[in-house]
Amino acid sequence: MLEVRNLEVTYPGGGAAVRGVNLSLAAGRKLGIAGESGCGKSTLALALLRLLPAGARVGGQVLLDGEDVLTMRWGQVRAVRWAGASIVFQGAMHSLNPVHRVGDQVAEPILLHRKGTAAAAKRQAGELLEQVGLPAARASAYPHELSGGQRQRVMIAMALACGPRLIIADEPTTALDVMIQAQILRLIEQLVTGQELGLMMISHDLAVLADTCDRLAVMYAGRVVEEGPAREVYENAAHPYAKALSAAFPRIGDPASRFAPRGLPGDPPDPSALPTGCTFHPRCPAALPSCATEDQDLRETGAGRRAACVHVRGAEPGPAPAAEDARSGT
Ligand SMILES: Nc1ncnc2c1ncn2[C@@H]1O[C@H](COP(=O)(O)OP(=O)(O)O)[C@@H](O)[C@H]1O
Ligand code: SF4
Ligand SMILES: [Mg+2]
Repeated sequence: MLEVRNLEVTYPGGGAAVRGVNLSLAAGRKLGIAGESGCGKSTLALALLRLLPAGARVGGQVLLDGEDVLTMRWGQVRAVRWAGASIVFQGAMHSLNPVHRVGDQVAEPILLHRKGTAAAAKRQAGELLEQVGLPAARASAYPHELSGGQRQRVMIAMALACGPRLIIADEPTTALDVMIQAQILRLIEQLVTGQELGLMMISHDLAVLADTCDRLAVMYAGRVVEEGPAREVYENAAHPYAKALSAAFPRIGDPASRFAPRGLPGDPPDPSALPTGCTFHPRCPAALPSCATEDQDLRETGAGRRAACVHVRGAEPGPAPAAEDARSGT
């Protein structure tokens, strides 16, 4: 359903925020995108529906059902947004219009895309709110009258409004507290599973993605550095960055991660000042001298997995990186 080929995005005055990303997602499947802040996840999501700010340069292809979104006429792009694929953004408070009732905001895309009567769109908006666990009567509320979790439910109802086949959820729960996060994630998962929609779920939290998605791609400095079945990447990452990201989240019932929480020093690089060689080398606990000058491409490592690291060779992951790994026995 979705195939991203060699996607490159450069913001004006900056370097490439997304570099040579290749990904695919079959209908009804769930793909997680992980990585720290600044690794290019949102840029990737925005590029898929041509929502990047003016001036951003985009290269490559974004094939949605075989048609390249990047070269479509604007009329076609507008039809694809909402009706083909829709995005749930991170900050529900900032994404809803504060001076319009939420029911009207859910009804608006239905009216624009489906061209029915206002009364029918309103009725459907009420049904959508009920699907996401809100009473239809809340349609008359303004965003400030709803809690953060309820607002995010409204955003999900909006994303579903025109019957898209793909939902892109960009950190949909980051601004919510932990209990509500779990509810919203479960809701998204139930909705996409029940309606056989495709899901691209973006998060910095690998554990959440491993629970929700079939496959997982880990991004660093604008590139995918590891990709594979979600559980396997989370539990047995091959790339040192994916390992570090995975180890940063304590596992319930795992004393090793409880007593020795691990972090990763430093920050991802700015796209305008990328390190030479493997862009992760300044932070990598397993870096070899050659990593400062030699970049690595994604390689197949077997069983539908790919990773870009000098320690990962051919069909089998190579020798474990040096700082590996108190966790590997758990
Ligand atoms: N509108 C913009 N103009 C210039 N640079 C941007 C813009 N948006 C994002 N960036 C830069 O692109 C990189 C990737 O950002 P982003 O895609 O938001 O990452 P993530 O979603 O993984 O946190 C960052 O270095 C960020 O500073
Ligand atoms: S290529 Fe080198 S620096 Fe990059 S992740 Fe692998 S070991 Fe670390
Ligand atoms: Mg983001």
